[in-house]
Amino acid sequence: MSYETLKHLHALTVAATLALFLLRGYWMLRDSPRLQARWARIVPHINDTLLLASAIGMLVVAGLNPLDQPWLMAKIVGLLAYISLGTLALKRGSTKAMRIKAFVASLGVFGYIVAIALTKQVVPGLG
Ligand code: HEM
Repeated sequence: MSYETLKHLHALTVAATLALFLLRGYWMLRDSPRLQARWARIVPHINDTLLLASAIGMLVVAGLNPLDQPWLMAKIVGLLAYISLGTLALKRGSTKAMRIKAFVASLGVFGYIVAIALTKQVVPGLG
C-alpha cells in the first residue's frame, strides 16, 4: 500500500473515530442504554485498530522513527491520553460529573492531536 493510500485511510478513520466518540459521548450524557449496544462497543474498536494500523503503515513505508520525530512521539503520547480519558468518559468514570469532565478533556486532546498532525509541531503554532 502506498503512503498516500495509508494517509487517506488514516484521515478517514480519524473522522470516523471522532463521529463515533461524539455519538457515544452524547449517549453517555443522556444516560442512554444505546451506549451498551453490541455494535457500539465493537465497531469503534475495529475502526481504531485501522487508525493505528494506517499510522504504523505510514511510519514503515516512509521509514519514519518516532524517536527521531518529536511530533510523532507527541502523537503517540496524545493517543494514549485520548484512550485513557475516553475510557473514563464512556466507561470507567464513577460519577457523571467525572465522565463529563473526562469527555471534554478527551475532545481537547483529540484537537491537540489533529493540530500536531497538521503542523508537525509538538506545540502547534510555536515556530
Ligand atoms: C487519535 C489519534 C490520531 C489522530 C486524531 C490523527 C490525526 C491525523 C490527521 C488529521 C492527519 C492529517 C491527514 C491529512 O493531512 O490528510 C494525520 C496524519 C498523520 N498521522 Fe495521525 N492521527 C492520530 C494518530 C496517529 C499516530 C499514533 C501516529 C503515529 C505515531 C500518526 C501518524 C501520522 C502520520 C505519519 C501522518 C501523515 C503526515 C503527513 O505525511 O502529512 N497518527 N493524523
